[in-house]
Amino acid sequence: MPELPEEHAVTIEALMDEQRKFTPSEEFKSQANINSQSIYAEGDDYVSFWDGQAANISWRTPWTQTLDWSNAPFAKWFVDAKLNVTESCLDRHLEKNGDKVAYYFEGEPGDSRVITYSDLYKEVNQLANGLESLGIQKGDRIAIYMGMIPELPIALLASARLGATHSVVFGGFSSDSLRDRINDAEAKILITCDESWRNGNRVALKEYADAAIEETPTITNVVVVARTGAKVNMVDGRDIFYHDLVADQSTEKAATETDSEDPLFILYTSGTTARPKGIQHATGGYLVGAAYTHKNVFDVKEDDVYWCTADIGWVTGHTYIVYGPLANGCTSVIYEGVPNFPDKDRFWEIIAKYKVNQFYTAPTAIRTFMKWGTEYPAKHDLSSLKVIGTVGEPINPEAWIWYNENIGNGTCPIVDTWWQTETGHIMISPLPGVTTTKPGSATVPLPGIGADIVDDEGNSVPLGGGGYLVLTHPWPGMLRTIYRDPERFKDVYWGRFSKPEENKWVYFAGDGAKRDTDGYYWLLGRVDDVMNISGHRISTLEVESALVDHQSVAEAAVVGRADATTGQAIAAFVTLKGNVVGNDDLLAELREHVATKIGKIARPASIVFTDELPKTRSGKIMRRLLRDISEQRKLGDVTTLANADVVREIADRANSAAASQASQE
Ligand code: PRX
Repeated sequence: MPELPEEHAVTIEALMDEQRKFTPSEEFKSQANINSQSIYAEGDDYVSFWDGQAANISWRTPWTQTLDWSNAPFAKWFVDAKLNVTESCLDRHLEKNGDKVAYYFEGEPGDSRVITYSDLYKEVNQLANGLESLGIQKGDRIAIYMGMIPELPIALLASARLGATHSVVFGGFSSDSLRDRINDAEAKILITCDESWRNGNRVALKEYADAAIEETPTITNVVVVARTGAKVNMVDGRDIFYHDLVADQSTEKAATETDSEDPLFILYTSGTTARPKGIQHATGGYLVGAAYTHKNVFDVKEDDVYWCTADIGWVTGHTYIVYGPLANGCTSVIYEGVPNFPDKDRFWEIIAKYKVNQFYTAPTAIRTFMKWGTEYPAKHDLSSLKVIGTVGEPINPEAWIWYNENIGNGTCPIVDTWWQTETGHIMISPLPGVTTTKPGSATVPLPGIGADIVDDEGNSVPLGGGGYLVLTHPWPGMLRTIYRDPERFKDVYWGRFSKPEENKWVYFAGDGAKRDTDGYYWLLGRVDDVMNISGHRISTLEVESALVDHQSVAEAAVVGRADATTGQAIAAFVTLKGNVVGNDDLLAELREHVATKIGKIARPASIVFTDELPKTRSGKIMRRLLRDISEQRKLGDVTTLANADVVREIADRANSAAASQASQE
């Protein structure tokens, strides 16, 4: 067993006690899209398996080769094939399903919109024409920074229609984060909103965007959707309202032909350095993987209504609100706001209103619902639900069982889906009509996906053991590179366990996992310096560099500590400069400073001021020790530390900080 952080060892013990199993009912099985175990054997020849799945999307020109892995780890899927993804997502549905609902939009204040495939097709074309009139051409980058309104998927699709590359920046990120992502991608246009609604409040997106744009030389125009109608600053010649841009545009726009390997989007995610990585996805393979997994993991049928609660600012929204569901001609719900506005039953009200059949959310949300109590879901008719899913972090068996009983009524299969921004689509998950589930386990790799658990040397760990999760062969939705940084791509994902001299390429996911004696995977969390806060990845280094950016801070160390609701919470340890005195005001200021530098999701849950940070004799900060302190574990031997005596003092301060600062959230 490699050296996983100690809390993982504790988790393994807890998971090993989990014996419950849930087998798909005969009733479910008989109607399922996939209901035979033989599908896994079909996936063994993964190239031929994915070749077969590619028939489910529209191509203009077929491929000459399914996979070209000769330049590994740079893959090419569906070589030489031509397509435009919007033809699969829109055009091909028009004849039979033009009047079918693509999106039921539910605004947070209570407004709603029904958008058919034909409506969506027209709006996408109008925006594509508008963007072209602003100079967008194939290959250009378009930055998108919006709330969850219909114009958000429309913006992604309009970009794709033109063969441009979209880079969506989650609306909760700060001006600085937006600026850095725009500059890295060298985006030409930014699409944003005047404001968005969140928890009954207005979020001033255009104001944040304006601050970002002051330092983004590549941006020539800003397109602004009037969501709330607030009066916003519009810069003459640069800014244009969305409704003005599309007003006179044709509802037809010939889709630009793209190569299967042309980039479709870039999405930034945190890694182990302070600089986020631009994960670059290609076109053809991504859509094949998105469509296959959406249809089969959620067992979606022609007349179903499907709802994924993620924000399109994250990969889950890209693949399972936009590309997967639309490629399958599915009807989806899009909800703009938070689950407790105006009350804690908003999600359940929406499920009852639209008779939602598949519901996909995050363990953090489920744990929050548990805290709020069963009376909220009990008030509503959830009997339309057929499959319920989770994503983003490990789900603890207790939350799984609660979800099963209170949302799934004991009859809906639960699909716990493991994947990443980098993988593009779901990789490890049950197939609801086939796979027996165990609470807390994402079960087994999907057909056509190869995974393994390896030790420090890269040797496969026998069943029953734990180690690092790796992916053993290419898959269609895999990232193609890190934008403008192929060396980092090779190094981060393929450098650790691959043996290039033997032409053996192994993808390192960054997660610790255990496999039980049935071959089931139990995900244990990150093994690198990446935290998972409410299912969102944030690097410890990003938060540390935001803290040391503050004039009063000399040094900072950040760790993720276990949190019953958010999975992990950010715990910071800060050494102040010279004569600066640490008090409550400074503490609040530092938390705000991080929110301004990165975004509110990165605001530390607790900050402890300390005169020194615990370091090894070679000067390395002892993060593991800080994590032990944060989680109030018994401390081991600290005699190898250069400054052993500071540890006890930090531990005392951390205890009182955790108690007093937690109440501020
Ligand atoms: O640590 C794993 C965790 O989330 C990471 C990927 O984060 P991100 O790229 O933001 O994508 C999240 C949504 C796909 C993984 O490395 N993770 C994701 N799903 C699960 C999970 N951990 C355990 N169980 C899951 N089902």
